Amino acid sequence: MKHSRVLTTSACLLIVVWVDSGGSPGASGSWRISHLENGQRIYMSGMTAQGRVIQNSHGMEGVGCAMCHGPDGRGGTMHGIPVPNITMRALTDPSGYEHPTGRKRPPYTEESIKAAIVAGIDSGGNSLHPEMPRWTGVTAGDLEDLIGFLKTLGMGPPGSQGGSQGL
Ligand code: HEC
Repeated sequence: MKHSRVLTTSACLLIVVWVDSGGSPGASGSWRISHLENGQRIYMSGMTAQGRVIQNSHGMEGVGCAMCHGPDGRGGTMHGIPVPNITMRALTDPSGYEHPTGRKRPPYTEESIKAAIVAGIDSGGNSLHPEMPRWTGVTAGDLEDLIGFLKTLGMGPPGSQGGSQGL
């Protein structure tokens, strides 16, 4: 009797740990979906945690920011076009950023990041290259969640912010 109670307790613990460690198998979540999880889903898959596809100017479905900016946000190249680092630290770096093309921009604020995502306008008022989709279907709440997730990217070892090729 005593023995079986111990077993039951540890089985419960296992389930709790599994749910907590961010296992989000499918959009079935009837448990609370955190803002961070929603932001992460959008970043990784272009879909909200409820499974809604975010409309974008490329007509992509089920493809998120990670395809071009990388799962760690540090960018690289896509179709021969340089893709910038979009970790929060890189976007808001007080010294701004100079693209490999020579185009410069000042540091972003949260508001100007939203304009870049939705309308393709950067912090310097430049129109971004059309390779960067315009995410027209994103809601205000989704944008907040996505930015919350960008803040968690690149939180690796100090000094690892780096430019083009993340180490
Ligand atoms: C198909 C590839 C692709 C996808 C998918 C993509 N981006 Fe981009 N993104 C780019 C490219 C290329 C640029 C650079 C455009 C330029 O230099 O004009 C860019 C630029 C940006 C910038 C501006 C960076 C700067 O330094 O000015 C932000 C912010 C950004 N992307 C955020 C996102 C977010 C958030 C998502 C997902 C919701 C996303 N991107 C999805 C290709 C992509």
